[in-house]
Amino acid sequence: MAILKIARMGHPVLLQHAEAVADPTSPEIRRLVADMIETMEDANGAGLAAPQVHVSLRLFVFRANPDRGTNDAEDTQMPNTVVINPTVELLGEDTRMRWEGCLSIPGLRAAVPRAWRVRYSGVDGHGEGFSREVTGFHAGVVQHEYDHLDGIMYPMRMRDFSLFGFSEELARAAAQAQIQEEEPA
Ligand code: NI
Repeated sequence: MAILKIARMGHPVLLQHAEAVADPTSPEIRRLVADMIETMEDANGAGLAAPQVHVSLRLFVFRANPDRGTNDAEDTQMPNTVVINPTVELLGEDTRMRWEGCLSIPGLRAAVPRAWRVRYSGVDGHGEGFSREVTGFHAGVVQHEYDHLDGIMYPMRMRDFSLFGFSEELARAAAQAQIQEEEPA
């Protein structure tokens, strides 16, 4: 396995519409997924999409650990997971602001509106199809990572640029305002 170089905002690969994965069970894809999980863990991220490691394919990895959730009883936790050739459907009218970071925008975070509940489908690392309905942090990470496959970075989703700043500064403010901290994806 290997730790991969992460593209930063401004690199054109992050603005491309990624291509579907032809064979989710190929050795190349298995290796890519293993390397992406290692890279995500090394960078202490909650998610990583293939375009972020300069591979313009429709797959991402993520995790929704118990210590990263929104503390909402509805939160759906998830260990390290790969999603290949996904679709995402936003469910209901409930949209909430969540604090997001991105490994391609290091040091910064922002409040981004996301659907609270989504249904997403795709293929796992064994080539098996699945569909899940999830909420909260899990749903937010899936929306963030899916956006990467369409060349969308979280600042493109923002409505209030006063809620955008350096993590260190926001952490200071959070101590007063109880802003929720989440890991970059
Ligand atoms: Ni990201």
